[in-house]
Amino acid sequence: MSEFWEDAFVEKQLMWGEAPAKSALWARDLLVKENARSVLIPGVGYGRNARPFLDAGMSVTGIEISATAIAFARERMKLTFPIHHGSVGDMPFDDARYDAVFSHGLVHLLDEAARAKFVRDSLNQLLPGGHLIFSVVDAVAKSPRPVPMTFFDGPDLEREFGPCEHFKLDDHHPFYMVIRRRWFAATTRASLRALAGTCG
Ligand SMILES: C[S@@+](CC[C@H](N)C(=O)[O-])C[C@H]1O[C@@H](n2cnc3c(N)ncnc32)[C@H](O)[C@@H]1O
Repeated sequence: MSEFWEDAFVEKQLMWGEAPAKSALWARDLLVKENARSVLIPGVGYGRNARPFLDAGMSVTGIEISATAIAFARERMKLTFPIHHGSVGDMPFDDARYDAVFSHGLVHLLDEAARAKFVRDSLNQLLPGGHLIFSVVDAVAKSPRPVPMTFFDGPDLEREFGPCEHFKLDDHHPFYMVIRRRWFAATTRASLRALAGTCG
């Protein structure tokens, strides 16, 4: 997998252009409303999707398997936010907690066990109330691809990713956006309810 992406970036360079994906703009708008301040972006590539969050005043940390993509983020996109070089299979790379984990175009490239680990590790890196937001390719786009990928249908999504919201969003491919929240710990919710009870 890492060789495939290394070769792809060497050959095609900034292959999706410099503009962010629609999913990143949608996530930025949601996170601005939620007053989010920090975002972890696994599979950040050369960084085009980081820009909307940075421009909205959020701090961004990336994870990326391709050294060439990271070099493009630095040299071509002039981006200076921290990027961990490695596979999401080796998460966590830091012990920080983020308001959001956002990932575009990566999760459908992982096998079933790796997807489950990715969701677990991402939820663990969220602050209470934080959002896990990612895109996966919609099954309507099913066709032979140069790299193995899983295509998703609406009913698959909750079975696969647990209690989530999802909707379709067309970009270079038809995608599903999937959103999961890390809720407050049960004890915290119970204590908030108790507190609310004392204010009536
Ligand atoms: C389809 S591309 C999307 C790139 C970026 N999100 C964008 O939209 O510009 C998938 C990205 O994930 C990276 N990637 C693939 N497998 C990975 C893994 N196991 N861990 C971290 N990054 C990975 C690839 O190198 C590539 O940058």
